Amino acid sequence: MSRSPDRPHVHLRVLVPDDAPWVVAADRVAATAVARAQDWSADELAAELAEGQWASDAQWGWAVVVDGEPSGFALVTDLDRAAADVQLRILPGVRGRGVGREVLRQLAEHHFAAASTLHRLTGRTHEHNVPMQRVFNAAGFRMEARYRESFEQSDGRYASEWGYALTRADWEHGRHRADAHGYGLHGLSFELEETVEGFAFPGLLLKLIQEGRRVIGRYDARDLSDGELAGILAGDLLRYRWIHLDERDEHPREVTGRGRARIQRREDSRLEIVDQWSDDDGGHGRRVLLERRRGGT
Ligand SMILES: CC(C)(COP(=O)(O)OP(=O)(O)OC[C@H]1O[C@@H](n2cnc3c(N)ncnc32)[C@H](O)[C@@H]1OP(=O)(O)O)[C@@H](O)C(=O)NCCC(=O)NCCS
Repeated sequence: MSRSPDRPHVHLRVLVPDDAPWVVAADRVAATAVARAQDWSADELAAELAEGQWASDAQWGWAVVVDGEPSGFALVTDLDRAAADVQLRILPGVRGRGVGREVLRQLAEHHFAAASTLHRLTGRTHEHNVPMQRVFNAAGFRMEARYRESFEQSDGRYASEWGYALTRADWEHGRHRADAHGYGLHGLSFELEETVEGFAFPGLLLKLIQEGRRVIGRYDARDLSDGELAGILAGDLLRYRWIHLDERDEHPREVTGRGRARIQRREDSRLEIVDQWSDDDGGHGRRVLLERRRGGT
């Protein structure tokens, strides 16, 4: 398989009993507030592996080997049904280099080829787990559902999860390897960098969600609230409609309009949006928004 020089080499192999100690350690290290640990003991997992429980018709456990080093694991369950479920854990030190999406791509290639009865690979992720959402999206999985209050958090409160799936037809069409949607805007936030023309909207902050070519956003600024936009991304151009409450006068006013946002990457690798908007009352403006730096995973 060809790979670009800056991409790590990702190899999947079946877990064996000797892997149990590092898998248990990786499980603890990789768990986060939005992705629970499996909580195995090393003996328990070694016994399950020795019995073949993680290489059966129903479920499979994979070691994720990155540049020759064990760096995480993937579990696929319900393989004896039409829809199997995928879970991923990648060690913190190797995150953000494309390993997660490459694992999903290789899992799709293996399992759809191995089981003709398999029709869907599915996964769920916490509504705030943006890295995993980006991984699903990049590997061709579609967001299909929002499960409300389905994830019990450590504080006892329930959060929602999003459900994703890659179908057999998606895999046959190579959707899991097609970077079909150009820029991945999902989960990114942008702040106002420069106003070239029109009213400035100080403090403007825009948060985006992307599914396929559809992009929706929420935004707020000083003297502006409840901003929402929805559009279609074609190449690097997002054409969208918007609505917000303008609070500059004593009585807030609902304003609607449209816009064209060109997405481009700066030299420091952050994305910027060159946005040209007009409102339905004849006003217009132009501004540049800059991607907010992301925190660690
Ligand atoms: C989720 C996880 C599997 C991703 O693995 P990975 O190897 O980092 O995945 P990738 O490098 O392919 O992609 C990660 C993406 O998240 C982005 N990202 C990382 N931190 C982010 C943050 N704080 N906010 C927004 N995006 C972030 C990365 O930039 C990258 O996106 P991009 O390259 O499209 O810009 C890994 O972080 C992990 O194991 N997390 C803990 C367990 C977990 O959440 N598992 C999934 C539960 S369903």
